[in-house]
Formats: sequence, C-alpha cells, structure tokens
Amino acid sequence: MSSADIYRELILDYYRNPRNFGKLEKFDISAHDTNPLCGDEIEMQIRVGENSKIEEIKFSGRGCAISQASASMLTELAKGKPLEWVKLVAKEDVFKMLGDPELGPSRVKCALLGMKVLKTGVYGYLGAHYEDPEPGT
Ligand code: FES
Repeated sequence: MSSADIYRELILDYYRNPRNFGKLEKFDISAHDTNPLCGDEIEMQIRVGENSKIEEIKFSGRGCAISQASASMLTELAKGKPLEWVKLVAKEDVFKMLGDPELGPSRVKCALLGMKVLKTGVYGYLGAHYEDPEPGT
C-alpha cells in the first residue's frame, strides 16, 4: 500500500466515522460557511475553557469526503490548544494533514473549508474579547 493509498483510506475513514461530529449544547463560538462551488457546508462550535483553551469542539455539515474529513481532523488537532494556535494554522498544514494529495482548485476549496470556518469563528471571538486597548488608555 502506498502512502497515498493510506491517506485515501484515512480520509474515507474520517468521512465515514467523523470524530467530533455533532453539536454542543453550550458553546462560546459558532461559525458556518459553505463552499460556493457546490453549496456544501460546515458548522463548528467551540466551548472556550480556562486560559482561552479550546475545551470542546464539534463540527457538523455535509459535503464530500475531503471537506468532512479535513474538518474532523482539524477539530481533533484543535482540541486542547489555545485559541491563539488557530492563527498559526496554514493551508499547508491542512494539506499535510490530508497527506498532501494532488488537488485541483475546486478540491482545494473542499480541503480548506473546515479551516476557514475554524478561523472565522476564532478570529471573531478573539476580536470581540481581546481587543487591543485604545492608544493612550
Ligand atoms: Fe463540496 Fe467538496 S464537493 S465541499
């Protein structure tokens, strides 16, 4: 089995048995986005714990294997990390997590949908809760 096969299996496994799939009853962050090319969607909810850590995170949505697997893998990575960690996540990290598959432009959007939702939610929360003090105050 080549490493590409192994990653393909892994993506299918996450698609069929998505980790952290569902909704949280109590959450501090919620974000949602769709892939404009196909209309597929992902929603993420996060409960923020002590020291601004991602205490609990879940996602839901519908879409292709790569979009759902990527979102699910990201929730696993994010759990327990500080919110600030989300700022460091780059698209290359997501591609690496998926085994660096060859992706055409439309599939790139699939792979990055989860990251986009995660960043949208966390950036919005950080902006609302930790704004820089006004200069001179
Ligand atoms: Fe819709 Fe991949 S085909 S997110």
